[in-house]
Amino acid sequence: MKVLLATEKPFSAKAVDGIRQIIESAGHTMAVLEKYTNRCQLAEAVADVNAIIVRSDIIDDQIIAAAPELKIIVRAGAGYDNIDLKAATAHGVVVENTPGQNSRAVAELVVGMAIMASRNNFDGTTGGEISGKRLGLQAFGQVSRNVAKVLGGFGMEISAVDPYCPADAMTALGVKPVDTVAELYAGNDIVSIHIPATAETKGSIGKALIESMPKGAVLINTARKEVINEEELASALENRPDLKYFADVKPGNAAELTERFAGRVFFTPKKCGAQTREANLNAGLAAANQIVAFFADGTDRFRVN
Ligand code: 3PG
Repeated sequence: MKVLLATEKPFSAKAVDGIRQIIESAGHTMAVLEKYTNRCQLAEAVADVNAIIVRSDIIDDQIIAAAPELKIIVRAGAGYDNIDLKAATAHGVVVENTPGQNSRAVAELVVGMAIMASRNNFDGTTGGEISGKRLGLQAFGQVSRNVAKVLGGFGMEISAVDPYCPADAMTALGVKPVDTVAELYAGNDIVSIHIPATAETKGSIGKALIESMPKGAVLINTARKEVINEEELASALENRPDLKYFADVKPGNAAELTERFAGRVFFTPKKCGAQTREANLNAGLAAANQIVAFFADGTDRFRVN
């Protein structure tokens, strides 16, 4: 079988070597397409492959249709909103993710952003401590659980809302379950967003929620930019000069926000929550092992379609 590793944002060299070793020792071949700049390159590269490993690379119906031999796509990471599941299913292609493999890296970025915002971007002015403050986690998946473990150690008072997660998974980590998103935003000094981008969540965080946050609050988004209503975010930051928005997922109006709210907004130049050597290795090797298992005996434990 031929496996393509297609990453516009490449994995570390060590992760690529590790992926190759797993694929080739199972008797398959591997091709690599990194830092590609247009979709035609991707469409050409998938023409004869049986499996694809991607990160946030967009795999839409056009790419799937250009890959007649394709059997499986593995998103080396958690969120799979970049893959057209309907098109994959229609073409008989299995889609999997690698849950939990890069979540510690993203959690550490959340911790870094929480401290950076509380210390005024390390600009030398008097900041605040996060210890003893209230942290709200919107959704309680793998990233949130890692954030809770680390920031619980800082003495933060942590609560979370997640209709899909049983309350005892939260209480086991010392996290207080709350019933509504409104309650979470209104009751926390820092709110960290960890919801996926779905039809239901897109644009769901707007003016009302953001303006309900307590004085001096910080909103952190290392999830997906689509979950924010960007126009309403701008208006909330205008109305509430005490609020901050830090994100690993640059909003469409990033330039405008940076100009209007200097020091109160921060955006990584390129999405980098999962961009650590460790996360690259964990997610990349997991993806390779999942493909080998799938071709060996049809194992599809992490199937999402
Ligand atoms: C994920 O969903 O796993 C994260 O957002 C990381 O995405 P990336 O692989 O594009 O860095």
